[in-house]
Amino acid sequence: MPNSPLILGLESSCDDTAAAVLRGREILSSIVVGQDALHAAFGGVVPEIAARAHAEKLDLAVEQAVAEAGVPLAEIDAIAVTAGPGLIGGVLSGVMTAKGLATALGVPMIGVNHLAGHALTPRLTDDLPYPYLMLLVSGGHCQFLIVRGPDDFTRLGGTIDDAPGEAFDKTARLLGLPQPGGPSVEAEAQEGDSKRFRFPRPLLDRPGCDLSFSGLKTALLRERDRLVAEHGGLHAQDRADLCAGFQAAVRDVLAEKSRRAIALYLGEHADDPAMAVAGGVAANQELRGALQAVCADHGLAFVAPPLRLCTDNAAMIAYAGAELWALGVSHDMTLSARPRWPLDRTAAPLVGSGKKGAKA
Ligand code: KG4
Ligand code: ZN
Repeated sequence: MPNSPLILGLESSCDDTAAAVLRGREILSSIVVGQDALHAAFGGVVPEIAARAHAEKLDLAVEQAVAEAGVPLAEIDAIAVTAGPGLIGGVLSGVMTAKGLATALGVPMIGVNHLAGHALTPRLTDDLPYPYLMLLVSGGHCQFLIVRGPDDFTRLGGTIDDAPGEAFDKTARLLGLPQPGGPSVEAEAQEGDSKRFRFPRPLLDRPGCDLSFSGLKTALLRERDRLVAEHGGLHAQDRADLCAGFQAAVRDVLAEKSRRAIALYLGEHADDPAMAVAGGVAANQELRGALQAVCADHGLAFVAPPLRLCTDNAAMIAYAGAELWALGVSHDMTLSARPRWPLDRTAAPLVGSGKKGAKA
């Protein structure tokens, strides 16, 4: 797409400092500088440390993204930046950097909702037409959305406490497994018996698409403590069985709530049967398999973008910015950083605030 505008995207709302250059759907570069090592000793993301690291690394990420894209900075047509929701210090760093660059280059700036970046990713990767159903499952977010346009979302439900990625991370911590917890719990679960421990399936007894994951973690802690009290420690098989039981509970809850979200979605959009996932937890094979089966049962296409674009990155921000810009959206120097910024402005606020800050 040689005539598409050249967009520089910036992302710094949590613990990844990212910059990317896109022309249309073509990703010319996508740089992601993680901060895992900086936060490792604290058992979670420390907002002040994250903000300082973003302030230090954003310029470098931009330089690298532009160099890898092989285009002079002067050719950039617009800057897209995450303006929320997220940890305020990081979001501020990104917005200030974008303002400086937009002023210096004399180009427009577009403030993008981080969640919209995730929600539009299947359009970047698979050119998925509107509307579609989206399940966003990460370390900070969990919600079902009907996506009708770059600024047109309906939230069907979401977590009322922890996000699933947080639950995987906490489970790993309780069992002495390395972070991030998702991949290590998934690897352990492969050796385990998912039926030995019967963990709760929270909120399945209630109607609707809201989810809850904090009780699951408490149930796992209780089981772990019982095993330790009985046997003086955890055997390798105990640990694998606990992981398998936990993963099966998360899978079942997300699969059943997806069924309900699909029914609501098809009620309005029976002619557009498609469901997509985004977020780091979408890497989980067990979950992907279950969601694929649910979609097949209901005759929906299932779109799962590659993992590097499911997790936090700036290509999704540049892409969402390009769609908004095409609709005439751009922002002036009054653009502010928003710690909370719900995609669906009519939906009731979600309670809870996880390791990634407010859940919007
Ligand atoms: O989207 P992401 O990179 O960051 C945000 O939370 O925004 O997601 C990271 C989360 C972590 O909590 C991590 O444990 C989880 O995704 N995760 C997984 C897997 N890979 C990453 N959870 C379950 N299974 C996996 N294979
Ligand atoms: Zn994210």
